[in-house]
Amino acid sequence: MEKIHKSRRKLIKTLILSVISLPLIGRFLIPGIKHRKVLLQIKKPRVPDNGALIFGQKKIAVIRMNQKIYALDLTCTHLGCTVNTTANGFICPCHGSMFTTGGDVVKGPANRPLKRLAVREKGGNLLILS
Ligand code: FES
Repeated sequence: MEKIHKSRRKLIKTLILSVISLPLIGRFLIPGIKHRKVLLQIKKPRVPDNGALIFGQKKIAVIRMNQKIYALDLTCTHLGCTVNTTANGFICPCHGSMFTTGGDVVKGPANRPLKRLAVREKGGNLLILS
């Protein structure tokens, strides 16, 4: 009888630990699924046609070009300064890197494009995700 109680307790402990650890194990087993944070939420019509909304404090540009909407992290990929907006794209005030409106490098020293942020549409709003 004692042996049955012990094995039942062990089974219950194992079940509880399994349920608690499933989300953690899932993150390692399925690394492609990122748990993203909402950085910004805006009304979709606010983004001008062939233009951009700049959120300086959040270092985010939300851009609409040819009906497509995308978002860029305005942190320079060289050493992390915040890039400034120009008519043709972005320029870094620290060492002069230049980027297109799509975030591609035009002139170094930066050698990687600006980071694209995920954009999701939800009920007429745009969610900008990390
Ligand atoms: S930090 Fe932007 S070019 Fe160096």
